[in-house]
Amino acid sequence: MSKTVLLLPGDGIGPEIINEAEKVLRRVNETFNLGLTFDTALVGGAAIDAAGVPLPDETLNKARHASAILLGAVGGPQWDGLEMARRPEKGLLGLRSNLELFANFRPAILYPQLASASSLKPEVISGLDIMIVRELTGGIYFSEPRGVRELDNGERQGYNTYAYTESEIRRIGRVAFEAAQQRNKKLCSVDKANVLEVTVLWREIMNELAREYPDVELSHMYVDNAAMQLVRAPKQFDVIVTGNMFGDILSDEAAMLTGSIGMLPSASLNANKQGMYEPCHGSAPDIAGQGVANPLATILSGAMMLRYSLQEEEAARAIEAAVHTVLDQGLRTADIMSDDCTRATTREMGEAVLAAL
Ligand code: IPM
Ligand code: MG
Repeated sequence: MSKTVLLLPGDGIGPEIINEAEKVLRRVNETFNLGLTFDTALVGGAAIDAAGVPLPDETLNKARHASAILLGAVGGPQWDGLEMARRPEKGLLGLRSNLELFANFRPAILYPQLASASSLKPEVISGLDIMIVRELTGGIYFSEPRGVRELDNGERQGYNTYAYTESEIRRIGRVAFEAAQQRNKKLCSVDKANVLEVTVLWREIMNELAREYPDVELSHMYVDNAAMQLVRAPKQFDVIVTGNMFGDILSDEAAMLTGSIGMLPSASLNANKQGMYEPCHGSAPDIAGQGVANPLATILSGAMMLRYSLQEEEAARAIEAAVHTVLDQGLRTADIMSDDCTRATTREMGEAVLAAL
């Protein structure tokens, strides 16, 4: 049976980086005889321009039937004026919620070749390998009620709701405990239980779950402290589990520890392990179309896709090894450039990965 990979280039640098990742995936498809077929659809601003909505029915249908999805990025200043429901980001959020992709894995791994690209001291980050498990379909991103309302005194008030049900907490908790079991067996749950009731419940459920995973050492940290600890001593962390918004913020911070957010892939899975894979960075409209974006996060997202949704470990490893090879060769896009290295365009980086394969 053929397996379909749905490519969603999206906006900004999305099409450029997806283009390089597609070449890499097509190559391993041939060499490893994976039997993959590829399809493409519109999402985000590109879909708004072509079809008037950020997540057309056709795209959602294709996504539902795909074995896995690889997404570039969404958003850009030309769509910033639109009302919330029609913004490009709703395309991404709609995919996450419609496919119930509640478990978001964001690894922050330091490539030794890039230690000097980080703003932190080498001894603080050398050997860094953290996995952030972010809840992706609940919390303040999705809870109701939300909106902007007019109060009795005529003043407008913007408001959102931060809610989690026990079952939502439990299912992301299990995913995180299981991830910790596969790694160094340390799980840090990040909350704001000194202020927010929703995270008091979060902490309670995590403690309950801990009894089922006696081999995993569970700790708790307030989010403000976690933000500080991530730059002070990031290697104390193994797996971090947190809610949607805290995870959004902490994963950008963790990404930067590694030198460039342009290196980091992510996976978003549902209960059936169907997944959407995307680079952690955004659409970077300021450099879109210039051919300078780093395609490695997207290429590495393709590797995660092969591993988690398509069970093609060998092909995944081949891609990851090829990325190591091009870094060893000293090839760098602008975001990870340093003195003694060779500057590469988006396409040159993609071609180098192909050659290394
Ligand atoms: C991310 C992004 C998205 C998010 C945006 C584009 C909606 O920042 O994937 O981290 O906030 O989840
Ligand atoms: Mg983010």
